[in-house]
Amino acid sequence: VRIVILGATGATGRLAVDEALAAGHEVVAYVRNPNAVPARAGLRVVAGSVEDDASMRSAFAGADAVISCLGARITAGTLLKGTDFQRRTLPAIIAAIDAASVPRFVLMSSFGIGTTRLLGSALPRILYHRIIAGRLFDDKWIAERALPGCRANWTAVYPVTLQAGAPDVGWDLAPLDTVEKVEGIPVLSFATVAKVLVGLAPDRSRERQRLLLAPKGSWR
Ligand SMILES: NC(=O)c1ccc[n+]([C@@H]2O[C@H](COP(=O)([O-])OP(=O)(O)OC[C@H]3O[C@@H](n4cnc5c(N)ncnc54)[C@H](OP(=O)(O)O)[C@@H]3O)[C@@H](O)[C@H]2O)c1
Repeated sequence: VRIVILGATGATGRLAVDEALAAGHEVVAYVRNPNAVPARAGLRVVAGSVEDDASMRSAFAGADAVISCLGARITAGTLLKGTDFQRRTLPAIIAAIDAASVPRFVLMSSFGIGTTRLLGSALPRILYHRIIAGRLFDDKWIAERALPGCRANWTAVYPVTLQAGAPDVGWDLAPLDTVEKVEGIPVLSFATVAKVLVGLAPDRSRERQRLLLAPKGSWR
């Protein structure tokens, strides 16, 4: 399977490239800075920005799936003033996916955006999802209004808070509309998310689903 990975220089995207190569996929890393991605067999590094529609379309041509692990680079400015990065780029990414007839799209989102925040416990809901990441999360929530218009078979994954470390042993993927409550402040590793995103890339059974990714036992 040929997979284009966006955000391949980021905490999760870098691991998604490793994971996809280890699974035997053909990988295209579409990045702003190709020097930041070490060359390996099975990997093609293509220079480009998600702000360049024509370049994205040509990078996506012939792909079986696109995985997005993009995020606005976080600075004091983006936290305080907000960003329009996701709402500007996600519709363009979706348009490029459809223009290139890519059949599958897997989006890394965040648990805590929009109405998913209401499923969290009080502390993360107020401190993290509203005060700290509120403006970034608003941007993502607005951006995702473009998802239903995507003609590809898409799945959005909503991971809880992430940290470095080995893949976790116990985690669940659950459709958000079946989740009543996510307890405490659950944490998973970036490596777990990378594994899940790559596993979902060829899996067409989760079409148009929005899935919580959380430690086993942390939600009901
Ligand atoms: N960290 C968490 O706890 C957590 C939890 C749940 C969900 N998430 C979400 O998951 C996503 C990925 O998170 P992460 O921490 O793995 O990301 P990250 O380390 O912040 O990396 C962001 C990636 O996006 C790329 N990017 C930013 N602006 C770009 C542009 N204009 N054109 C092309 N690429 C661009 C960056 O490329 P450059 O190297 O070129 O800047 C980088 O590869 C984010 O949307 C984040 O909100 C994070």
